[in-house]
Amino acid sequence: HPPVSQMEETSLLRRANCRSKGGASGFKVAILGAAGGIGQPLALLMKMNSLVSVLHLYDVVNAPGVTADISHMNTGAVVRGFLGQPQLEDALAGMDLVIIPAGVPRKPGMTRDDLFNINAGIVKTLCEGIVKCCPKAIVNLISNPVNSTVPIAAEVFKKAGTYDSKRLLGVTMLDVVRANTFVAEVLGIDPRDVNVPVVGGHAGVTILPLLSQVNPPCSFTPEEISYLTNRIQNGGTEVVEAKAGAGSATLSMAYAAAKFADACLRGLRGDAGVVECSFVASQVTELPFFASKVRLGRCGVEEVLPLGPLNEFERAGLEKAKKELAVSIQKGVSFIRK
Ligand code: NAI
Repeated sequence: HPPVSQMEETSLLRRANCRSKGGASGFKVAILGAAGGIGQPLALLMKMNSLVSVLHLYDVVNAPGVTADISHMNTGAVVRGFLGQPQLEDALAGMDLVIIPAGVPRKPGMTRDDLFNINAGIVKTLCEGIVKCCPKAIVNLISNPVNSTVPIAAEVFKKAGTYDSKRLLGVTMLDVVRANTFVAEVLGIDPRDVNVPVVGGHAGVTILPLLSQVNPPCSFTPEEISYLTNRIQNGGTEVVEAKAGAGSATLSMAYAAAKFADACLRGLRGDAGVVECSFVASQVTELPFFASKVRLGRCGVEEVLPLGPLNEFERAGLEKAKKELAVSIQKGVSFIRK
């Protein structure tokens, strides 16, 4: 911790406590892995979010530095830093929303599943902290492989008896952000005006853009569909290769995570009609988890929306996605149950 004077601490506490939960008052948000490539810009964006009253930045390295830096921004949220496992519980106590970008990223040639051995253990430890300190918090899980880390988190929560499927959300927002951008490029329109549902999961063929359901309604040639599907599914790899060993998407991911967290906070506040895609416990297919549009509300996921009508190409993609997803989900479940 950087030293904070008594006076400063009192004034920080006063500012933090005078905001009650919800409304114009703000929420308490923790970022776990806050000093990383995603964590730092995500901390910056959450410090700029007017719905956030308290922002806790936790990491096993460099958390005090990032915290000191971010804390000088003259926005509303009070920022506190937490370094290393002994401070995890303080970082989590009383949080409304916990965002997890902790873990190692891909290098060229790696699949997201290659990260499993390291990241599974990290996610398990962090979720055990959530069980103890903020079992009612909404959890946004970014650490890859999301298709397995969400089932891991669910199993940790089940084991502890605190599992509520409405509060656990795998972040697939970057797939939607990319799809919107790439589709807008093809259509020659503003990406802010495009909304592409992306369902399934967050790796390779499990990323299933529903190009037949793009808003505003439009149609594509078979070549465009093939180009767009391929580019959306491999958007992450495009960045990994361009960074050539220096990591994976961090800036666009932080943007997507901040957008998704903001949607969760607006839901918590009670806003109507907040709908985003996320990888959640689901009955939309026979799989226990699946990404699709969900309606966010005061309890987290209020409703998992159906997939809507798929064309033949999408139905074939869905079958492929489900096959791979089933394996990844089972791998996550077994990691905790073994
Ligand atoms: P990074 O290596 O730059 O940062 C990860 C941070 O996690 C580091 O600061 C590290 O110290 C911290 N960390 C490691 N173990 C920890 C622990 N036990 N507790 C708390 N913090 C811990 O990696 P980057 O680029 O920020 O990526 C993070 C994760 O996000 C990776 O698993 C990556 O694959 C994933 N990712 C997910 C995406 C998605 O769409 N869901 C998109 C892009 C990346």
